[in-house]
Amino acid sequence: MFSYSILLIAALCGAATSDPSTSTDLLWPLPNGNTVGSDMYSLDSKTFMFVPAGKGGSSDVLKEALERYMKLIFLPSPVPALASSITAPMDKLTVTVDSSDETLALNTDNSYMLDTSMSMLSAKTVYGALKGLETFSQLVSTNSMGQFQVPSFKANDVPSFLYRGFMIDTSRHFLEMKTIMDHLDAMAYSKFNVLHWHIVDDQSFPYTSIAFPAMSVKGAYDQNHIYSQDDIAQVIKYAKYRGIRVVVEFDTPGHTQSWGKGIPNLLTPCYANDKPTGTYGPINPTLDSTWTFLHTFFTEIARVFPDSYIHLGGDEVSFLCWESNPDIQKWMKMMNYTNYAQLEQYYETKLLELVKTIGKQYVVWQEIFDNKLEVLPDTVIHVWKGGDNWPKEVYNITKAGLKTLLSSCWYLNYISYGEDWPKYYQCDPLAFNGTAEQQALVVGGEACIWAEYVDSTNFLPRTWPRAGAIAERLWSKTDFSDLHSATTRLHNHRCRLIVRGIPAQPPSGPSFCPHEWEE
Ligand SMILES: *[C@@H]1O[C@H](CO)[C@@H](O)[C@H](O)[C@H]1NC(C)=O
Ligand SMILES: *[C@@H]1O[C@H](CO)[C@@H](O)[C@H](O)[C@H]1NC(C)=O
Ligand SMILES: *[C@@H]1O[C@H](CO)[C@@H](O)[C@H](O)[C@H]1NC(C)=O
Repeated sequence: MFSYSILLIAALCGAATSDPSTSTDLLWPLPNGNTVGSDMYSLDSKTFMFVPAGKGGSSDVLKEALERYMKLIFLPSPVPALASSITAPMDKLTVTVDSSDETLALNTDNSYMLDTSMSMLSAKTVYGALKGLETFSQLVSTNSMGQFQVPSFKANDVPSFLYRGFMIDTSRHFLEMKTIMDHLDAMAYSKFNVLHWHIVDDQSFPYTSIAFPAMSVKGAYDQNHIYSQDDIAQVIKYAKYRGIRVVVEFDTPGHTQSWGKGIPNLLTPCYANDKPTGTYGPINPTLDSTWTFLHTFFTEIARVFPDSYIHLGGDEVSFLCWESNPDIQKWMKMMNYTNYAQLEQYYETKLLELVKTIGKQYVVWQEIFDNKLEVLPDTVIHVWKGGDNWPKEVYNITKAGLKTLLSSCWYLNYISYGEDWPKYYQCDPLAFNGTAEQQALVVGGEACIWAEYVDSTNFLPRTWPRAGAIAERLWSKTDFSDLHSATTRLHNHRCRLIVRGIPAQPPSGPSFCPHEWEE
């Protein structure tokens, strides 16, 4: 038998470059319920095996993951050797998956149990097993003899939140397929599980529609900056094989300038002095043709993106153009509407009903709630505004019995000199005055990187490892004030990202990684 004792190691001070002193220094995000023992096992890259077992043991998702992790664990050690001596060899890790169900959904179980001294990893779902494999791979390092080694380690790891998301914006600037795939890998290395794909916006429409090909022909920057149906299918599959859902956003009725180029009469013509100005506002909700279009379009989207949720946007709707348009004014009179918020409500209510009839649930930006629009009970409200005031918003939303998702404190596109990840790390989505029922309605959070100043040249280094701070906050029940442990571990995680091919920038000032970045 191996005896477990928690290693109490005196804290190292100061710089982020401190060598790892404990095995947990290698871990990001920190597994919940973990215990590290004093034994150390050696792994032989020529003979070590993963042994899949259980009903889910023959899953293709698991099979591919085992192949990936077999390579990842035998990469050069991302950090200097841990001082240790080998207790015994470890020749295999049995990976038991209870269920063969590969459905990826909001409530998919991501938990796992790992016990290296028993050579055992077990999980209810294949996606839980993926998280356990990531943890196992992070524990492997090399010792001074150049041997691969893994400590005696146990975890009964359950994530804090179901929804650990990351939003990319491919409208302001296009992201190359390779960048998106590398990013999905990096997300998996940090246990994120949702890619929110803000695929189109005012500036460009890179989505290639089957029913409305003119939308990308006229609305994309050019025909080299589009995602084909095949590209999209590849992203969805690549993500699924890494346990990541793809929730696509088609934001309406505002943020749709690029939509109007391919679909005549979709947008509202703006007027000045009783004449059309040639500019356009939000989608025109008053025409039947709008609803015919939206029905066909969202039916296609529901089929192309298999996740049960679609993000319907709904933010920043300006009423000015609607107000200026005489046809809209006439329609408002007919409907006895006295203000334009009623028109917005009309649009959203009808859109939400439409999307529900085609069998999808939805996420919407917080304006839908703020404007007191009626929403269906399963709506997830995405909080992005408010600065430090977001707790009141989260309180109000959960008080109304609705699910919510937090991004206000996690906009990675805001950059500044110095170390900024601690402020992401210290933002707690549950830091509001709600009851236990209210807290249970907070499904998680999402890092966002709006792409006005971001494309494939700087996306990965700007994102990583800063996004890691958010990943740990959403996974781990670590102490918010313990920046010391987090500083060391995030530095080590960054070095691991580099070894694994992600050009992650230095998070905490002067430091070095044993393996420098090379293209
Ligand atoms: C608007 O009000 C008039 C007068 O009260 C009523 O006859 C009409 O049915 C109303 N229209 C709608 C769409 O509610
Ligand atoms: C929350 O609701 C209260 C009461 O309706 C309201 O006064 C307040 O402005 C709301 N706060 C936010 C941030 O929406
Ligand atoms: C929460 O409520 C308590 C008791 O009403 C109050 O003292 C506290 O300041 C509130 N905290 C926040 C963050 O609103």
